[in-house]
Amino acid sequence: MHKFIFWLLLVILSIGMCIFTGLQAMDRYETKSTVMGLERDFYFWRTPVASFTVCPMRRLSQDLFDKYCQKKKITGTHKEDLQLFLETLANSTYFNFANITVRPSIDSTLDRLRLKPAQYMSLIYNLTTDFTQMEDENERIRLNDGFKNFVVRQVLTEFGICYLGNSYLHDEYTARYLLFGKYPKINKEHVKMLLGSYFDSVLLILSVPKTFESIGVFIHSSHDALKIEQKFFYTNEAVYYKAETREIIAEDGFEKATTIAQRNCRFPHESNLEHFEIYTKSFCMQECRLNMVYKKCKCIPHFYPNRIRNPKPVCSYAALKSCVAKNAENFRRLHSLKARKTVHCHCMDSCFNSIVVVKSVEVLANLNVFQTGFTVGVEVTTWPLELLKRQVIFTFTDLLVAVGGAAGLFLGFSVLGAIEFFYYFTLRLLWYLRGYRY
Ligand SMILES: *[C@@H]1O[C@H](CO)[C@@H](O)[C@H](O)[C@H]1NC(C)=O
Ligand SMILES: *[C@@H]1O[C@H](CO)[C@@H](O)[C@H](O)[C@H]1NC(C)=O
Repeated sequence: MHKFIFWLLLVILSIGMCIFTGLQAMDRYETKSTVMGLERDFYFWRTPVASFTVCPMRRLSQDLFDKYCQKKKITGTHKEDLQLFLETLANSTYFNFANITVRPSIDSTLDRLRLKPAQYMSLIYNLTTDFTQMEDENERIRLNDGFKNFVVRQVLTEFGICYLGNSYLHDEYTARYLLFGKYPKINKEHVKMLLGSYFDSVLLILSVPKTFESIGVFIHSSHDALKIEQKFFYTNEAVYYKAETREIIAEDGFEKATTIAQRNCRFPHESNLEHFEIYTKSFCMQECRLNMVYKKCKCIPHFYPNRIRNPKPVCSYAALKSCVAKNAENFRRLHSLKARKTVHCHCMDSCFNSIVVVKSVEVLANLNVFQTGFTVGVEVTTWPLELLKRQVIFTFTDLLVAVGGAAGLFLGFSVLGAIEFFYYFTLRLLWYLRGYRY
C-alpha cells in the first residue's frame, strides 16, 4: 500500500513538472522568441542619413489670406484680427496654446464665416502655401546633396504644417492626404532617400525660402516622424548638424515567421491606430496624447488627422486656451493624470528604426549672402560599425523539442512509445478479441 502511494506521488510530481516546463516553453515561444543581435559586417551596409523636419514659424500666406478676405468681404480691423487669430492658431502647439490671440471681433467674424472648429485645420491648410510645389526654384524648399534632388513633402505634425525630407515613411504621410485623402504632386525625378556606405562622406542640404522668416528644426529617424518631446532648435540662420545614425533592421523572413506579440514590434502596415493608417512609434504616441486630451477636455486639437469613421470633436479656440493649455505640460510629457491608466498608451517599437545621435550643432551666421533664404545641413562623416538586427531565436521547432524533451525527461514519453501504446489498445486488441494468439 505504501509503495503504491509513493508511486502515485511520483507520477503526479512528474506530470506537474512536465506541465510546468511545457507552459514555460510555450510562454517563451509566444512572447520572448525574438532578440536583437549585433551585426558587424559594416563594409557592405547602406545606412540612411537622418531625416529632417522643418516647421516655418510664419504660417499663413499673405497673398492667399488677402484673396480669402476679399472673397468673404472681410475688411479693416476684422481682417487684421482674423489674420492674427489664424496665424497664432496655426502656430499653436502644446507649448503655446495660451498665445492664441483673440480680439473681440473674432466671434462675430467666425460666425459670419460659419467656421466650426472642425474646419480650423482645413482653412489653415487652404491659406498655407505648399513650398514644395513652387514654380520658381528659389522659392521652393529643396533638398540636395550636391548631385541629386530629394523628395520633400508637406506634412501635418503636432507643430502644425511642416516639411519633411529624407524619410522612409509611406507617401500617405502628407498634409494633403491626412486632411483630404488626396495625394500631392510629387516630382518623379526626385529621389526619396539618401543612403551612405562606410566609405562615403555626405552632406545633405535643405534650402529654405526666405519667406519662412524663422524655423524650428528637428533631426530624427528616417523611419519615423518628429516627436514633440525631443529636442529641437529655433533658428533664423543657417544651421549645420553632424549626426550619426545606427540602424535597427530585421532578418529576412522575420515578418512572416513571427506574430506581433512574439516580436513585440510593429511594421508600418500593421497599424492598430485609429487616426493613422501607418504605424510608427511616434504616431502611436500622438494618438495616445490626443486620447488623453479627449479624455480630459472632451475634444482634440485641430492639428491631428481626424478623417475617421467617428471623428472626434475638435477643440474650439476657447477650449484650447483654457482646458488644453492648463494641462499642456502633462499632455506633452504623456505622464500624469488618471487618464494615463484609462487611455490605451502601450506603444510598441517600430520594427525598422534608427537611432540618430546628433554630435554637434553649429549656427553659421552671415552665411546667407545670396539673400534667397537659409539652409539646414546634415553631414555624416562617421558611419556606425555595428547595427542591430531583430532575429528569431526560439522557433516552432525549438518549442516542439522543448516540450517533447520535458515529456521525455519526466514521463519517459516518446513518439515511438505513443504509437506502440495506441497500437496495443486498438489493432492488437481487435486481433486479440478475434481470437488471434501468438
Ligand atoms: C510661433 O511659436 C513659437 C513658439 O512655439 C514662437 O517662438 C514664434 O514666435 C511664433 N510665431 C509667431 C509668428 O507668432
Ligand atoms: C479648403 O479647400 C477645400 C478644397 O479646395 C474645400 O473643400 C474646403 O471647404 C476649404 N476649407 C475651408 C475651411 O474653406
